[in-house]
Amino acid sequence: MKFFIDTANLAQIKEAQDLGVLDGVTTNPSLMAKEGISGDENVLNHYKAICEIVDGDVSAEVISTDYEGIIKEGEALAALHPRIVVKVPMVKDGVKAIKYFSQKGIKTNCTLVFSAGQALLAAKAGATYVSPFIGRLDDISVDGLGLIEEIRLIYDNYGFKTEILAASVRHSAHILGCAKIGADVMTGPLSAILSLLKHPLTDSGLAQFLADHAKAAGK
Ligand code: E4P
Repeated sequence: MKFFIDTANLAQIKEAQDLGVLDGVTTNPSLMAKEGISGDENVLNHYKAICEIVDGDVSAEVISTDYEGIIKEGEALAALHPRIVVKVPMVKDGVKAIKYFSQKGIKTNCTLVFSAGQALLAAKAGATYVSPFIGRLDDISVDGLGLIEEIRLIYDNYGFKTEILAASVRHSAHILGCAKIGADVMTGPLSAILSLLKHPLTDSGLAQFLADHAKAAGK
């Protein structure tokens, strides 16, 4: 399973990249705003800066929701850097635009997906990635991981090439659940990725090893 980091924060992207486990980045307008990035030129420059840190795909989201606007914005984003994936919302004109981009060889990430039907449409339109938001479903007491399972089954039934990018991942249990089900990618905050490191027996075991080593060495 590929690990994407879900942030527009350059320091966190670099930290994950330096850990050696990062396969890509996802951003969204809220994450860009959180970093104080606004204005067309600043936004484009920020995407370029992200592309220069990572080796993998970088999702950059369009703001337009009409077909012509999505095409115009998406083409400008795709021209920025070969790593850019155009992130398009799951709306009617978005589906049409994904079809257009896929015919042009431009990678897409269909975002704001909350049902298996939406994921089926995204795959039929030729999306490179589909992003079901599991955390936000859990927030409304709907089983987010259950949706990943449903989409996996449907895509495998028909051999769809669209990659399942489990989004809105909040913690290590989400990551492990995605890995067990067979999501192709998960995207989450740095804290969720780093939480995989943690086990109390690792900490106490290491403390014991170091203490025994020091004792044997007479320190
Ligand atoms: C997906 O690509 C989104 O950026 C993201 O995962 C949303 O996560 P949130 O629900 O934690 O905002």
